Order: sequence, then structure tokens, then C-alpha cells
Amino acid sequence: MKNVLVIDDDEKICWAFEQFLESEGYAPSIANNAEEGLRRIASDKPDVVLLDVKLPGMSGLEALGEIKAHHPWIIVVIITAYDDVETTIEAMRLQAFDFVPKPIDLELVKSVLERAFRTQSVRSTLPMEIVDDSLTARPMHRLVGKSSEMREIYKLIGVMASNTMTVLIEGETGTGKDLVARAIHVGSERKEKPFVPVDCGALPDELLESELFGYEAGAFTGAKAEGKPGRFELANGGTLFLDEVSNMSPALQVKLLRVLQAQEIERLGGTRTLKVDVRVIAATNQELGEMVRLGKFRDDLYYRFKRIALHLPPLRGRQEDIPLLITHFLQLIQDELGKPIRGISKEGMKLLQDYAWPGNVRELENCVRSAATLCRANVILPDDLPPEVRTGHSAGTTDAAQLETSLKSMLQNMTKTAIAENRKGLYEEVVAMLDRALIELVLDEFSGNHSKTAELLGMSRTTLIKKIKQQNDNE
Ligand SMILES: Nc1ncnc2c1ncn2[C@@H]1O[C@H](COP(=O)(O)OP(=O)(O)OP(=O)(O)O)[C@@H](O)[C@H]1O
Ligand SMILES: [Mg+2]
Repeated sequence: MKNVLVIDDDEKICWAFEQFLESEGYAPSIANNAEEGLRRIASDKPDVVLLDVKLPGMSGLEALGEIKAHHPWIIVVIITAYDDVETTIEAMRLQAFDFVPKPIDLELVKSVLERAFRTQSVRSTLPMEIVDDSLTARPMHRLVGKSSEMREIYKLIGVMASNTMTVLIEGETGTGKDLVARAIHVGSERKEKPFVPVDCGALPDELLESELFGYEAGAFTGAKAEGKPGRFELANGGTLFLDEVSNMSPALQVKLLRVLQAQEIERLGGTRTLKVDVRVIAATNQELGEMVRLGKFRDDLYYRFKRIALHLPPLRGRQEDIPLLITHFLQLIQDELGKPIRGISKEGMKLLQDYAWPGNVRELENCVRSAATLCRANVILPDDLPPEVRTGHSAGTTDAAQLETSLKSMLQNMTKTAIAENRKGLYEEVVAMLDRALIELVLDEFSGNHSKTAELLGMSRTTLIKKIKQQNDNE
């Protein structure tokens, strides 16, 4: 029998879990606080623990630390509030297996448990993991968002924070790459050591090279007499953040790869090799894979980065995060402005949620900032928003780009709904919808004239009439 221990102080939840677990063929046991849970773990040796984070007495995270220190093979699934970012990251760092958000969805619990037991059967054939028990709770940079995409990111940040592998953060401009890099650093054991950012796009190649690796006295004309340490040296023991790494020249890419492999550097004009202990996080808003195909980025370096890549989702695919981000920015901004902002009108919020945000969270932040500055009566109204948000047309983007962005956003929503509702046949559905919208539009334009409509669409009149009939039949 597969043993599952539930540690939760809410008796109703415990009861519901017990019924559910029994009906699924597991052997459940229950503890109402962490201390009792730890005793039960020692006596019952459960395979999986479902652990609430908010417990009276010892907290869930402390309990997780204890469990993993003494029984590293037990799989712990954390039960937590939806948008508790810090807990998610910390728990992943402490080797939690996964999360079940409250309110609890038993279908999700079922699939997480199935995955947990599958993992365990594979893992029982592997050597035991060594778990560091010297971990304490750590604060982190504030990331906001509770969409499933962002929750995946929090988990990955937690996992990345617990190791020192090279990480690549990909994502469009303004999606939070900088923030995520810092969150990984702050969540890691290196947090007391330096976090050193280098913008690889801001410096010409030779300068970037001496910035990264430093130089010895007399290395080149204009070099300082005493030489200069590079950012790698400055980041020793900590994290080096290579921002916009796609801008690095191929020659420098080779050097970087060597340093990553050997963990040692040579200053320019020097002969000594210096051992460095640096965790490298790289970020790019370009498709590095595409750049490799075009021969602009070295494939060996790309593969080294790509082993652990974190892809930050654009804002347009996660509308549910927009109100949270707005509240977050309003709080920050009203402190700066010294005027209270009561909120945002319904119409204003709708415009903000419907806009495609090509500049992602940064553009949203700037927009909230300017609206908060402009607004009277301490409420943000549609008039306070920038014209592109009011009209839904991004400044500086062409109509085609705008159309593609809105289409993508719409398709993303349809995909999500189809997944959530477990529907099939999405392709047909999308094509049928486009077909209908386009035909209706053009028909309208030509006041219902079939010949003109067919001509513009580039199809025969018979095909058009057949399509219209089909559409009417399907309604
Ligand atoms: N999830 C988030 N929660 C709160 N603030 C965020 C979030 N994502 C981004 N921001 C904020 O948006 C702004 C832009 O984020 P950041 O600088 O990390 O983006 P980036 O991906 O590095 O962009 P670029 O590619 O242009 O360098 C910052 O002010 C950051 O604090
Ligand atoms: Mg950045």
C-alpha cells in the first residue's frame, strides 16, 4: 500500500483528503501540526507527504527542511496559497516536489500523486541524494503574478537557486529577466556574495573583453598602471549576470566558453591564470537558437547555456497577472509620488487588460506610472492612459505586427481554454472562426455582394456560397 501523510491544521481539509486518498487506493494518515507530522514520519515512513505551509508552531517550510534533512527520499508536496511567490521559491530550493494551490483541486492532487509515485519508483534505483540541511529562509526580490506560467517560473527559480549551473533566461523585452536573475542569486547560497551585472550590448567588443576579464599593467595603451580586475574576478564567490549575451562577438564567445569550462581566467596582457568560482546567468531577448542557425552565435556555447533555460512568458498571454501587477506598481508609485491612488476605473482596467503589451511588464509599469502622475481625484480613468492603450494600437509597431500580436494573444487564450476544458480539435475551431470572421467582414464591406466578396477573398463565388451555407448550418 502506498502511504501518504497529510499535515494540515484544517480538519475539514484533512477529512476531505482522507476520503479522497482512500478512494484512490492510498493509505492515508493525518497530522494536524508539523511536530506531530515529524513523529508520524519517523514511525509510519510515508512515501509522500502533503504539507501545508501555514501551520501553528513549526512552519511548513521548517518541517520541509527537517524532513529533507533526515529522510531525503520522502517526496513532499506543498499545499499553499496561489500567489505566495516567496514560499514557492523557498520550498523548491528546499527540494519540495511540487505544489498544490489552495483552494484544493482534487484532480490536480491526483495527477501530482501519480507523478510523485512514478518518480519514486525510478528514484529508488538511484543512489540517495545528499541534502544540505544548513538552509534558512531567505527573502527575495519581489516578483508578482499568479498565472500558471509564472508559478512554473517560481518553481524553476527555486530549483536554480539550489545549484550553481549556468542558466540562460530567455524572454521578450520587459518580461522580468533582470528580476529573475536577481531572484536566483538572492535565493541561493551565494546571496551574501556579489551579484555583478554586465550589459554585453552596451560596450564595444574590446572594452567588453577587458571589462569581463580585466587587464594587467601595460596591457594596452591607456591601461591603468596598476591593472584592473575584471567582472569575473569581482563576482568571485557570487553570480555574474551576462545581460544581452547575444551581442557578444564570436571571438569573445570562445573565450567565455573556455572560462565556463575551466572556471579560470587570464587577465588581458597577463600570463597568470586565476581560479574563479562564479555562477553565470545569461539573458537574451533574441532567439538564440535562431542566431545559431544564422551562424551568429556559437552552437557549443549555446548548448552549454541551453541545458538550463528559463523562458519568461510575455505579458499578453497572462492577463490574470495584470491587475496584480497594477496594484503592485500603484503601491510602489504612490510612495514615490506622495499621493494616494485609490484605484482604477473599470473601463480603465479593461483597456489595460485588453492591450497587447509589446513592451511587457516594463511597459505596463511605465503606463501605470504616467497614469498615476496624471490622474486627478486619485482614481485612474481611461483618459489618463496613453493613446496606444486607449486605442489598442501599439505605438511604433506596424499594423501587421499589431495584428500578429493580437492574434497570438487571442490564440493563446483559446489554447488555454481548450486545455482547461480538455477539448480536442482546436485547429478546426480556430480555422472555422477565422473563416467566418473574415467572410462576414468582407461581405459587410461590400454590402452582401457575393461576387465582389469572392473576388477579394480570391475564391470562386460557388465556394463562397458553399462556405456561407456551411457556416449558417453550423450556427
Ligand atoms: N513579474 C514581475 N513582477 C513585478 N515586477 C516585474 C515583473 N516582471 C518585470 N517586472 C518589472 O518590469 C521592469 C522590467 O523588468 P526587467 O528589467 O527584469 O525586464 P527584462 O526582461 O530584463 O527586459 P530587457 O530585455 O528589456 O532588459 C522592471 O522594473 C521590473 O521590476
Ligand atoms: Mg534586462
